[in-house]
Amino acid sequence: MQDSNMEYLTIALPKGKLFSLSADLLAKIGYTADGLSDKSRKLVITNEEKKIKFIVSKTADVPTYVEYGAADIGIIGKDVLLESEKDVYELLDLGFGKCHLMMAVPRDEKRPTLMDYAHTRVATKFPHIAERFFNEHGMQMEYIKLNGSIELGPIVGLSESIVDIVETGTTLKENNLEEIAWIMGASARLIANRVSFKMKFDRIHTMVRDLRSILESEAAAK
Ligand code: PRP
Repeated sequence: MQDSNMEYLTIALPKGKLFSLSADLLAKIGYTADGLSDKSRKLVITNEEKKIKFIVSKTADVPTYVEYGAADIGIIGKDVLLESEKDVYELLDLGFGKCHLMMAVPRDEKRPTLMDYAHTRVATKFPHIAERFFNEHGMQMEYIKLNGSIELGPIVGLSESIVDIVETGTTLKENNLEEIAWIMGASARLIANRVSFKMKFDRIHTMVRDLRSILESEAAAK
């Protein structure tokens, strides 16, 4: 790790749905910076007083920045973290961004059992997680990696099914898809680079302690 980076705690935040929830939670422990926004074109935003650097990255890249130590800390969904297979510490379940991963198929062409989909094509942004799931069921599948709008796969005949995340269920409903298997639950996690965790132990430990205390008092107030 470069010496100049030692003074700062660098935090990778994901663009998109988790951004404002992450920034709001960090603000509660005093981790803020002027101009911190996922709309900003500025990639690194620094709080000089507190020696914090925020980097705002594409969601799927957060575990990469953290694994390589370009960021000490990151916030990322458990789904994306598992899919990335990156070697990082998972420090805390932040409780927001709750969703689940599932398999869905066209409602009108639903087959009687899960096994009836063996050897068919599944469209997904999560091929590693999907493969683990189908392997556990002894099913060989053909995986088609998509980067978004996964629900389109079966509609246009690209695949027989999808493996994707569901939050409200609206996207499935509006596209006549039906969930047929629950794969795993997910929520936002605080992750850390393994070397940073040792070298910046006091700062990271304090951050985790402060976040935990906020989360506990919010949970108690519910
Ligand atoms: C995610 C996911 C579903 C949708 C689920 O997509 O891939 O399409 O959200 O949400 P719902 O259950 O509340 O309808 P996202 O909005 O991240 O965009 P994407 O299609 O680019 O992956």
